[in-house]
Amino acid sequence: MSVLTIDAGTTGVTALMVGEDGAVLSRGYQEFAQHYPDSGWVEHVPEEIWQATLAACQEAIDASGRTPTCLGITNQRETAVLWERRRGTAPRRAIVWQDRRTAGICTELREAGHEERVTELTGLRLDPYFTGTKLTWMARNDPRAWSGVESGDVAVGTVDSYVIARLTGGGRHVTDASNASRTLLYDIVSGAWSPELCELFGVPMEALPEVVPSYGTVGETSPEDFLGLRIPIAGIAGDQQAAMFGQNCYVPGSSKCTYGTGSFVLVNTGTEAVAAEHGLLSTVLWQHPDGHLDYALEGSIFVTGAAVQWLRDGLGLIDKAPQSEGLARSVTDSGGVVFVPALTGLGAPDWDPQARGAIFGITRGTGRAHLVRATLDAIAFEVRDVVAAMGEASGTELPELRVDGGASANNLLCQLQADQLGVSVARPQVQETTALGAAFLAGLGTGVWSSTEELMDTWKLEHRFEPGERDEGAYRRWREAVERSKGWAGL
Ligand code: G3P
Repeated sequence: MSVLTIDAGTTGVTALMVGEDGAVLSRGYQEFAQHYPDSGWVEHVPEEIWQATLAACQEAIDASGRTPTCLGITNQRETAVLWERRRGTAPRRAIVWQDRRTAGICTELREAGHEERVTELTGLRLDPYFTGTKLTWMARNDPRAWSGVESGDVAVGTVDSYVIARLTGGGRHVTDASNASRTLLYDIVSGAWSPELCELFGVPMEALPEVVPSYGTVGETSPEDFLGLRIPIAGIAGDQQAAMFGQNCYVPGSSKCTYGTGSFVLVNTGTEAVAAEHGLLSTVLWQHPDGHLDYALEGSIFVTGAAVQWLRDGLGLIDKAPQSEGLARSVTDSGGVVFVPALTGLGAPDWDPQARGAIFGITRGTGRAHLVRATLDAIAFEVRDVVAAMGEASGTELPELRVDGGASANNLLCQLQADQLGVSVARPQVQETTALGAAFLAGLGTGVWSSTEELMDTWKLEHRFEPGERDEGAYRRWREAVERSKGWAGL
């Protein structure tokens, strides 16, 4: 038996074939285009996400030489997608989680006194990050697309729902509770779409997907639409929640940080939704087939790996992201340079959609290595800020931090992270834990694995980074620079 898993991420789709022992058998990957039609706007073409999904899956299946027995899916969260129910075609581009265009709508709702109630129901805050205001924006600004939503011809969902609709030839319109909990429309305590929130954001409830548990069969792929395969779809989770599953963070207190486009630190809080304070979010971790929910506290940092990508694509300082390690090591420190990568505003714990990226401390002696080193420092500082907020929220310190995602392969970054946190950083052998988590969910849902205890045996430590000295002066300069980057887009 082998599990096919799809990770429909922000910049590309990864597919893995995973064996019964939890080992990755093969891999496929396909990038898709990012569209930036205006300042602070980020869009995706849904059809390109679907075509990338097909290509990545074909590559992984071919490389393994096996036929998968079930399918799991995980995805970039919060991104708002519309598609015609019958044909699967999208009437407009998706608005991506990083998109800041709805900052004004958030301010409007906050000034009208809605934030406290929204947080009480959802564990989230009024920020453009989440799906709700993106849909409000579409309803106000794209009446042609939105008329289909009102007539019932067009479905609304996040990327998981859209990909499942395409996998099933329009047969299923579902999402899981972890994805639903990121929309601002889902009541995380009652575990259902909230009529009150749907009215507030102007979204017809009938347009939303059915919310299903995160594991257990929810439908079958349609062979005409998906590579000739009819296999059960049996695991769904937002990418950060899936990474928690892949990192075996099943018990309260366990935590991980995934370094992707952004970085997301989650700590399992068990069966109770903890009040969202200190700039953190309270969110659904996953829903079990018996309906009960597990929760997490989350610190969402919007730009970390994307900052390294910007050094590569925006500035041309490096040709490939892994070069950042060697270049950053060629200097002893950043030479006083501080980079605040608020390229799409600031998320946790500062939350400012009007903040923008800033570089301070440049002198005539500054070279590209200093800027690259300042970028890695910034990632470590951002994660330190979020972990500190978690300590304040829970009153306890993290014993260690499990890391995963693309940039966790960077040894210098992991060492800087351990230094900044003052706790050890544990890196597993498999760092693609997002996709692995979705495979585990699907395998658990179809009997490939019988329990999470069995999955615990699959986690293997690759390297542990122990904390060393840290430069508190550099951290103070970082905090000062963050303050100065705030409000920039509003000037
Ligand atoms: O909430 C956004 C998150 O799901 C995106 O993840 O891996 O694309 O940075 P990633």
